[in-house]
Amino acid sequence: MKQFQNNMTSGAARRMPRSVALLVLLTLVLAGCSGSGPQTALNPEGPIGRTIDDLWELVFIMATVVFVIVQAAIIYTIIRYRARKGDDSEPVQVHGNTRLEILWTIIPVVILASIGYPIVKGIFDVRAVAEGSDVLQVQVTGHQWWWEFEYVDYSDETGRTLVTANELVIPEDTTVNLTMTSADVIHSFWVPVLAGKRDVVPNRITNLTLIADDPTPVDEPHPGQCAEYCGLAHADMRFKVHVRDQVGFDAWVADQLTPAEIPTEGAAAAGYTAFNTCVACHNSTVMGENGPEDVGPVRTIEVDGVTFTSSLAPSLTHFGSRSTFGAGTFENNAEHLAEWLADPSSIKPMRPELNDVPNGRILGMPNFNLSSDDITNLIALLEGWE
Ligand code: CUA
Repeated sequence: MKQFQNNMTSGAARRMPRSVALLVLLTLVLAGCSGSGPQTALNPEGPIGRTIDDLWELVFIMATVVFVIVQAAIIYTIIRYRARKGDDSEPVQVHGNTRLEILWTIIPVVILASIGYPIVKGIFDVRAVAEGSDVLQVQVTGHQWWWEFEYVDYSDETGRTLVTANELVIPEDTTVNLTMTSADVIHSFWVPVLAGKRDVVPNRITNLTLIADDPTPVDEPHPGQCAEYCGLAHADMRFKVHVRDQVGFDAWVADQLTPAEIPTEGAAAAGYTAFNTCVACHNSTVMGENGPEDVGPVRTIEVDGVTFTSSLAPSLTHFGSRSTFGAGTFENNAEHLAEWLADPSSIKPMRPELNDVPNGRILGMPNFNLSSDDITNLIALLEGWE
């Protein structure tokens, strides 16, 4: 036993100089004070987020009051009743004091009840499934490692619903009901400024309500993040939420429902030829001779009687209209796209070697060894598809 204790005390903690330990501690503590983190739940941008933030503030304030009172009582007791020189008599024994025991049972009951009621009510408020004709319905499918959004209220004249990826666009001040499922493993949908986390589970439906107060600046959408570890690129399974005013949202819907044009000249036309490689997994709805048509696979899955568009890879119909790609990870520009097309896994770690396309298991985009001409031409095509 003695030897065991010796081993314990001669460990790393003991060798670390006190100044270094203090510095590490201070760094960790002060890191919590940074106010610039965009993925914070402490600056809510909508009523649901505010409900959660208010609860956190209530609990924080009450915990602080309890902490201060308890610490003050401990410090007072230590000083007031400390052992004095020459006095080694036994302190007064309060064990079995009924009045004290009732008191320190009732006080926590009152504290817990006053925290518990608003919290339970808050959980029910936040979890309620939004219904009604003025609620925007969006179906969400989580994929390793990206997000698919299907606006079931909006479809073109051929009945194709509005499907996009990784960038959710919603109107301001509107209740949005997300009906969510997963195509593979468990993910978790989280927009810190708008709502709490909600798991996205294969073969199950979960719901989440989003309401955003104000439109977001074009280059500052709300960040979102998968919040359940789901494999190699979990940290890069991000997304953006753009909030528009109603006019801006309606214009966006009209744009998204317009099929992409097949380019007939220049680099983009050559890019459309190279696009043959992409359509093994990616779909794009293009304007063909006889109207809108899909050039890649369109897959659906059914969960609890609800049909979800659950593609093998993000739809590219309006790729150029998105501010980011790679699931909210890279700013959408030619430079990043060139790097991505040259070797996707070099900038976002994925496992394309484990893909099983016929069975719908996709773990990332492989390196197709595209020529630099193909890459240039594909960029011209994709950035043109706004
Ligand atoms: Cu999906 Cu983590």
